[in-house]
Amino acid sequence: MKVRMVPIGQVFDRFPRTVRDLAKARGKEIHLTISGAETDLDKTIVDEVGEPLMHLIRNCVDHGIEPPDVREARGKPQHGTIALNAYHEGNQVIIEIADDGGGIDLGRVREKAIRIGVIGESDRLSDRETIELIFTPGFSTAEQVTDVSGRGVGMDVVKKNIRRLKGIFDVDSSPGAGTTFTMKLPLTLAIIQALLVRIARTVLDPARRGDRVAAHRRRRRPHGTRRRGDHPARSGRAADPRRRVLPARRAARP
Ligand SMILES: Nc1ncnc2c1ncn2[C@@H]1O[C@H](COP(=O)(O)OP(=O)(O)O)[C@@H](O)[C@H]1O
Ligand SMILES: [Mg+2]
Repeated sequence: MKVRMVPIGQVFDRFPRTVRDLAKARGKEIHLTISGAETDLDKTIVDEVGEPLMHLIRNCVDHGIEPPDVREARGKPQHGTIALNAYHEGNQVIIEIADDGGGIDLGRVREKAIRIGVIGESDRLSDRETIELIFTPGFSTAEQVTDVSGRGVGMDVVKKNIRRLKGIFDVDSSPGAGTTFTMKLPLTLAIIQALLVRIARTVLDPARRGDRVAAHRRRRRPHGTRRRGDHPARSGRAADPRRRVLPARRAARP
């Protein structure tokens, strides 16, 4: 199997425009910073990771970064920042998407979760457990459905897709300071596929196929019965049923 390593920057390239257009539509001012665009990983993974990243970046623009007046009132720069960063760590690639917005609104998440019956009024949840509620399928704190948010097709799918790539997905958020999403992805899926090939080889092990052929031939000619010419003294090697086992090369052919 061929593994083609390509830089993650191929995917990052489209995000500046996304952020610019979306920020404008939402009346927000946002800088996007990108680092580690040269970090390379398996093309198969790069192809799959674009959609989830796009989703997270849209969420940062939409739910994370506050409007300029709100930011100013909170003593923050009017320009919000979304930072996209990729780097290698061991045999993994880490991709972080961080915004310096308002953070996940735990109060609203809790309220919404009670309203849709995911938790009860009396349930006591830690902040971490409350954050996890955003992965409930169909969950949204958006007041109204827009082209970006409120459709509830979201974080649960992002997490599922990262898991499918044998990756880990994590979210960290602090009120007023922002939210960071982290993906840890394998450099390549090739190792897993190589293991499967080995298993297949064991199943089709030529030696075992040969044994089965030998057993079969022995059964067809019960012990003690001999065909003419099979007598060991006269026919030599051909008399031994184990000699009739097909050569490994032929037996292994499917
Ligand atoms: N960057 C972020 N900052 C703050 N809250 C966020 C962020 N990303 C997601 N959220 C919260 O997670 C919820 C679920 O997000 P998502 O599944 O994308 O649904 P939607 O965007 O349709 O609301 C959002 O409604 C919001 O409350
Ligand atoms: Mg969303």
